[in-house]
Amino acid sequence: MKKQVGIEALAIAVPRRYVDIEDLARARGVDPAKYTAGLGAKEMAVADPGEDSVSLAATAVARLIQRNGVDTSRVGMLVVGTETGVDHAKPVASHVQGLLKLPKTMRTYDTQHACYGGTAGLMAAVEWIASGAGAGRSAIVVCSDIARYGLNTAGEPTQGGGAVALLVSEQPDLLSLDIGLNGVCSMDVYDFWRPLGRREAMVDGHYSISCYLDALSGAYRGWRERALAHEVVRWGDSLPGEQLARILYHVPFCKMARKAHTQLRLCDLEDAPNAAASTPAAREEAAKSTASYDAQVASSLGLNARIGNVYTASLYLALAGLMNGEGAALAGKRIGLLSYGSGCAAEFYSGVVGEKAAQRMAQVDVEAVLAKRERVTVEEYERIMRLASDAPEQLTPAPGEFRLSEIRDFRRIYAAG
Ligand code: CAA
Repeated sequence: MKKQVGIEALAIAVPRRYVDIEDLARARGVDPAKYTAGLGAKEMAVADPGEDSVSLAATAVARLIQRNGVDTSRVGMLVVGTETGVDHAKPVASHVQGLLKLPKTMRTYDTQHACYGGTAGLMAAVEWIASGAGAGRSAIVVCSDIARYGLNTAGEPTQGGGAVALLVSEQPDLLSLDIGLNGVCSMDVYDFWRPLGRREAMVDGHYSISCYLDALSGAYRGWRERALAHEVVRWGDSLPGEQLARILYHVPFCKMARKAHTQLRLCDLEDAPNAAASTPAAREEAAKSTASYDAQVASSLGLNARIGNVYTASLYLALAGLMNGEGAALAGKRIGLLSYGSGCAAEFYSGVVGEKAAQRMAQVDVEAVLAKRERVTVEEYERIMRLASDAPEQLTPAPGEFRLSEIRDFRRIYAAG
């Protein structure tokens, strides 16, 4: 039997504070419907300087290990995907290893390619295990980021922060990946970037959306070609994309998932053997199908709408949101996942939901993680945004959580709760 490899369990960590997106809209003199209906947001995580990519990653990994009884001596790889790292040389992964006192026998490193970095790490881990190089050991892949554009920018309502930790193994209770089907599309574009020394990302917002859609088309067509060849999907009464029970997208803001789904459907409608029988306008209209979006995409966006963009982790927040609500119902069904990182790289892959998905998600306790958060006013959010990155507030971390407490001689010191 072919070896099954994929995601066994996951855990999430989010900043302790959030702002209501309608409060932010009113403070900016913007119609709240632009942020809610136009972008699809509800709430936005607000990270203070004590909640950096290291502390959020460490908190997520601590939860992953503790709630799933992970034997860390069996973990041979710890990869952190991040585009908001804290040092040009020392990886976030080594901080996490130290904070959690993980064994010295694991590979530790970070992967960076904007929001695609986490997926790059996941694929390295999956292929390491599938190849046999891991010799039966598991890997932990963490996606951890603080999305920050700055006050009064167009990107402001699409900020956020958090971390998702994934346990990757030969026991894929959550999602068994279809190894060998992945489709990839990468291009050299300047759609979103963050020059060295800057906390805020720079972005050509509308261009970044078109880069995302172009890269999606290439990656999806690559996956579809292989999936058709392996008879995982087929041209028939339904489109190949419609044969996936759900499709998860990288979610910089929730409305982007709707645009992405329209684009994916357009790829199928344009390439279908009977495409010549319809007009381009008819295909564009059919691509926008609300029924298809509601059936295949909408149910995955609950967490993204309440946390905001988490760059590398956004796709995996969508996975957590989907599994939390529908893990049991989707057991045995195939889903598709689209990762996008500006710059840019996209990867489309698929997997089959595990029979124990709902049991694994019960350990994540998503509602409790969100319920602990505190809603802050826009004034408080602005105060937090103006704090210097090297002067964290002296707040005590909650039990099981981590915070940056100070930077001494350029060394970062963390407190454990
Ligand atoms: N009621 C309802 N809807 C309204 C509205 C109102 N009163 N006013 C505006 N809208 C709608 C608009 O019609 C638009 O919807 P469509 O896109 O469906 O047409 C939506 O609200 C947004 O309006 P604008 O396009 O005018 O908004 P904007 O120009 O101010 O900014 C943005 C939007 C470009 C996404 C900006 O928030 C931004 O730059 N965000 C950061 C970049 C980003 O997220 N890019 C995504 C692709 S890159 C990527 O995915 C990597 C990553 O993580 C960054």
